[in-house]
Amino acid sequence: MTPILELDRATKAFGGVTAVDALSFVAPRGQVTGLMGPNGAGKTTVINLISGLLHVDSGRIALNGTDVSAQKPHHIGALGLARTYQNVRLISGLTALEQVVAGSFLKRDTSMLASFLHTPAARHRMRAIREKALHLLDRVGMAHSADVLAETLSYGEQRRVEIARALGADPVLLLLDEPTAGMNPAESAEIGRLTHKLRDEGLSILMVEHNMKLVVDFCDSVIVMNFGRLIARGAPTECIRDPHVQEAYFGKQRHDADGLRAVG
Ligand SMILES: Nc1ncnc2c1ncn2[C@@H]1O[C@H](COP(=O)(O)OP(=O)(O)OP(=O)(O)O)[C@@H](O)[C@H]1O
Ligand SMILES: [Mg+2]
Repeated sequence: MTPILELDRATKAFGGVTAVDALSFVAPRGQVTGLMGPNGAGKTTVINLISGLLHVDSGRIALNGTDVSAQKPHHIGALGLARTYQNVRLISGLTALEQVVAGSFLKRDTSMLASFLHTPAARHRMRAIREKALHLLDRVGMAHSADVLAETLSYGEQRRVEIARALGADPVLLLLDEPTAGMNPAESAEIGRLTHKLRDEGLSILMVEHNMKLVVDFCDSVIVMNFGRLIARGAPTECIRDPHVQEAYFGKQRHDADGLRAVG
């Protein structure tokens, strides 16, 4: 089966910094794949390359078997990619439900929509969009807060609203860039459980995550990068024990790959 996502020697430099350096990996379909690495490793750049906000200097990215390396974000979205950002991006002054509704307008031709605005067809369409938004909030466990101003919700709840908005595009692959940033362990675990629920409903997920416990508890497999390069991949528990990963996260205190004791 074609993998949901494949990077083949993807490379992206900013000036003198190669943020993503000949990175190749495959994210299997129907799984939660973790993307780990210390600060500045290149994780967000990978997410931006996949979603078309940035383009590779060389190499190739395929979504569901289609080369998207040179495509614009809305084309990649139409092929089934949705994402959230490292910082929660909600619109101030809107309720949870309105955030999700707004998401579905943003990706449509609003001028066309405006010309229909006062017609029965438009009202019918609007009702359908609100119903779908409510259903999406329900999928992420937030239907009870549909009419609450999103900015008054906790980070964990805001993130779930944001995920509901992303799901409005009916994605096949969801990219989550540090979805648990700023959350306490209980809220983080809830996001982890949500990724499992969505996976079990058929979605594939690539999730940037710093927290090793969450990676172990919720990722089916993990990709670890440092300085733009892949340093480990595979089962989370094994990757976390990998000497290269230990070194990238904690410094040269452990045995390195050659089995030599390095100096602290
Ligand atoms: N738009 C940009 N312009 C210039 N340099 C950038 C840009 N985006 C990222 N970089 C650089 O690329 C490298 C990788 O950054 P990136 O944000 O992808 O890392 P990250 O793994 O997401 O880090 P963090 O864990 O802090 O979110 C860093 O050296 C960063 O300074
Ligand atoms: Mg980042």
